[in-house]
This record gives sequence, C-alpha cells and structure tokens, in this order.
Amino acid sequence: MTLTETAETLLVDDANWWRQAAVYQIYPRSFADANGDGVGDLRGIISRVPYLQNLGIDAVWLSPFYPSALADGGYDVDDYRGVDPKIGTLEEFDEMVEALHCAGIRLIVDLVPNHSSDRHIWFQEALRSPKGSPARDRYIFRDGMGENGELPPSDWTSIFGGSTWTQVEDGQWYLHMFATEQPDFNWDNPEVREDFLTTLRFWSDRGVDGFRVDVAHGLAKKLEDVLPSKAEMAEIQKSGEPGAHPLWDRDEVHDIYSEWRRVFDEYTPPRIAVAEAWVARDRRPRYASADGLGQAFNFDLLQADFDAQQFRDIIRDNLDLAAASGSSTTWVFSNHDVVRHATRYGLLGTVEKADGTAIMSTPGKAKAWLLHGAPEDELDRDRGLRRARAATLLELGLPGSAYLYQGEELGLHEVGEIPDEARQDPAFFRNKGVEVGRDGCRVPLPWSSDGPSLGFGPGGTHLPQPSWYAEHSVAAEDRDPGSTLNMYRRALELRRELQAGETLEWVETGDPDILHFRRPNGWEVVTNFGNAEVPLPKERIVLASGPIDSTLPAETTVWIAP
Ligand code: NOJ
Repeated sequence: MTLTETAETLLVDDANWWRQAAVYQIYPRSFADANGDGVGDLRGIISRVPYLQNLGIDAVWLSPFYPSALADGGYDVDDYRGVDPKIGTLEEFDEMVEALHCAGIRLIVDLVPNHSSDRHIWFQEALRSPKGSPARDRYIFRDGMGENGELPPSDWTSIFGGSTWTQVEDGQWYLHMFATEQPDFNWDNPEVREDFLTTLRFWSDRGVDGFRVDVAHGLAKKLEDVLPSKAEMAEIQKSGEPGAHPLWDRDEVHDIYSEWRRVFDEYTPPRIAVAEAWVARDRRPRYASADGLGQAFNFDLLQADFDAQQFRDIIRDNLDLAAASGSSTTWVFSNHDVVRHATRYGLLGTVEKADGTAIMSTPGKAKAWLLHGAPEDELDRDRGLRRARAATLLELGLPGSAYLYQGEELGLHEVGEIPDEARQDPAFFRNKGVEVGRDGCRVPLPWSSDGPSLGFGPGGTHLPQPSWYAEHSVAAEDRDPGSTLNMYRRALELRRELQAGETLEWVETGDPDILHFRRPNGWEVVTNFGNAEVPLPKERIVLASGPIDSTLPAETTVWIAP
C-alpha cells in the first residue's frame, strides 16, 4: 500500500466532513521555519504535523503560500499555481498534503480571486499593452477625470487607505480595492473566469480538500461609465437595498460560484469552500448555499463583546440562518486580520475617539488601543485570557465548524510592541496615524522557551517576538496540565463525542449572565459571563476553562457529559 492509499483510507470518504469540523488556520510565514531564513515554510509545517495531529484538529486552512512580493502578507498573488520559492516548492506542497492526510487532517487553501499582485504576468502584460486591449480587459482600467485625465476616475478610498486608483504610464488608471500592488480582476472577462477554474482543478488534483475564498463578496462589480461618488455609495450602503452596491455583494457574484460548484462536484468527496464575505447577515446564506460555495464565515462573535445576551442572540440567529441555507455555521474569534481575542477581552474601560465619543465595539476598541501604543496599564492580561478561554470552550461546544487561528491554542495575546520600522502590513503604511495594522497577530509562534527565535526556526524571525512569548511556548504549555494548549487538546478530543446533530436547546437559568445549552446527545455547556460565581448547575463536569470548585466562577465555561 502506498502512502497515498494509507492517507485516503484514514480520511473517510465523507462529503459532510466540513459541517462540524475544527479548522486550524496556518499563516505559513509565521508558523515554523525549517530553513532558518526567518520566514516560515512548508517544511516547517511538515515538521509540525505531529503537533497538529496531537492538537486534534480536523483540517488546516493554509493562508497564501503562492509566489508574492508580500505587499499584503501573500494576499498579493503572482502565480496562482505555484509555491513561493522562499517558502517551498510544489513537491514540498505535495509532501505536506500527504503528511497532513496521513495524520487524518484535511487541507483547505486560501484562494484570492478578487485581485492578483501587480507582478502577475497578466498585469505586467496589461501594463505593456495599449488602452482598450484584451490584456487590459482582464483588469479594471479607466481613463481619469480632469482636463487631461490627471485625476482618478472616482474619489473612492481603498480598504487600506488612499485612493483605489493608481495611474499607469500612458495615463490610464487601474482599480485596486486594497493596496496599489493588488489590481482588481475584471470578472466579466471570460479568460479570468476560465483561469480560476483551471486553478481550482490544479489544487484539487493535488489533493487539496477545499478553498477559503478571499473577499468572496467583491468579485462582481457594476461599473457604469459615470461612477458614483464615495458619498453616493455610502447612501446606497445605508439604504440596505440588497445587491444595489456597485462594488460589494452583487447578485451576479453567485453565477461565478455556481460555475465553481460544478468543478468542486467533479471530485469525490466534493471539494468544499468557505466564503470570506463581509455582508449583511441575511445575505450570507446565498454564499453558503449548496449550489454555491457551501459555507460562509460568520464573524458575528468575533465582533461581539464578552456578553451573554450578545452571544445568545448571535448563536440563535446564525443557527437559524445555517438551517435556512442547508449549510452549517462557522464560528471565529481570531484570525490573521484582527486583534487576538485574549487581548480584545482584556481591555479595560472605554476608549475614546478623537471627537470624544466612546468606541464601544470590542474590535474597534482593540484597534484604537494598538494605535495609542498598546498601553500595558489598559490591558488586564489574565482577565482577557480567562474570558478568551471561556469563550473558546463555548465555541467548541456549539454546532457548526470552528475556525481557530494559530497561536490562540497557546492563549497568545496580540503583540503590541512592534517598532514602526519592523511593521509590514500595508494598512500601517497606507493608513498612517489611523491604524497600526495587523502585524501583532502575525508574530512567529513560540515553540520553545529559549533559543534565538523560541524554536520558530534556527534563524531569526521576520517580526520580533516579545519577551513574554516564552512563557506561552508550546514546550512550556505542554508541561502544564492547566495550560491553554492542554485545554484546547482536551476540548478538541471531547468535541468528537459532543458534536452530534447540528442543533442545541437552551436551558433557562433565569440569570442573565449565564448561557446554558444542551446538545442533542445530552452534552451540556454552561458559561458564566458575569463577575460573580454561581452555583454549579450539575455534576459530571469533564472540562472547565479555568479552576473550578463547587461553584462556577466568573468568566468560566464548563462542559458536562451526558
Ligand atoms: C482578506 C484577507 O483576510 C486579508 O488578510 C487581506 O488583506 C484582504 N482580504 C485582501 O486580500
């Protein structure tokens, strides 16, 4: 029997494997570095497969590993069917797939279809080609405004700040919703459509189990000759009229995904996809439908405060939505774009905007805290971690899939102390003074308590690790039975028993700070969001997010076996 056959037999041929999966996101350049150049690589991932297996995840979501100038951490792709030589080769990719599959772990890769990098051969060809040429038609080129076309075609601001338009040598402008180095594709162009189908098959043929689709709500655009102004677009957004915005969440985007679905279904089991679609909650089911991508991220908990009522409403609404779309829901607390949840939950007091109004949302507060220099006296680290652990145990007890971000299993906090000269995120450079960007959650992982890069690799690290990282290393937490790492391991192990059925039933406690639910097979999850301990509802506790005695302490979750 070959290794591949072994892998295939280990991964049961189950078309529904994703519905309740625990998926672990690897940001490859910060996970593990085998060759010592300070940047994580595929060999590094291969070397850590036993760690992933021991953690108990079902799948890995691998953030972009394609050739890239890293203008946006790899989300600027030069070649959709290659591996960045700085982090590996196609042969190593195949080896990694095999190693993961042999460990019973599936692989979802990140696909970035809204934009390529400006180094992509098609964009280079577009630059060399004249106005109106087929090469320019693969992207979105426009003449400028003003007497000589010297002004951008519209006043739009890119997601990372600055104009969405950049002028090229012959005077035309191209659209980039993100950084200058990320030109948006024209999805009305048949070659673009065809090429992505080839890419989907290319990776599916290599054994990839699915795709995480970046900016899934952005591909279809309706750009008339006269473009609306920023203010007009804000009005359209405010009106909430479904599918009316020229740039985001247009209905036509689903035609693209039904084509993709036909490709996914050519495989056994069908390849899966999860949409990163920042759309109104009731627009999510279309992305998640079975004739579309199949699943969509739900970022509602990520945006919520540590608050029982908010959590309960979000859980109820998303389970209803998932049932309506036939999909399962997804839960996320952290990823490579947001301040880590241990930190979000540990920020004290309210933060004020320049105009004196309070920033209430937890993620907004966290961004503002980073911008103010991440003052240590405004962060209660222990409390943040206590709440993060409680929230995670609640999440892992919910129906649906849980997307976990590397390092959260170590209880890592955001790294606030990155000097400006070390920063990499385009959001920092393009949005100076408004945000510091996302580097603080992308600092290379600590694997051991000492050594130059805390076991990340034999060389340095491409972003500096803070001194407090050592106590959160895998080696340190491995030894400590009460560590966050060991809590995740135990939860992921027990989750295999707990995850039966895709529903839950609320157990009413009469206490607004307590959430208590029961799964169809009798497992129960109880979270105390409040500040006071409460009597423990029952015995048979098999797991707790913090020390427990005869009561359920503040900010703690317990799992109760049937
Ligand atoms: C969403 C990704 O998660 C983020 O990291 C990236 O900057 C943008 N899309 C643009 O690709």
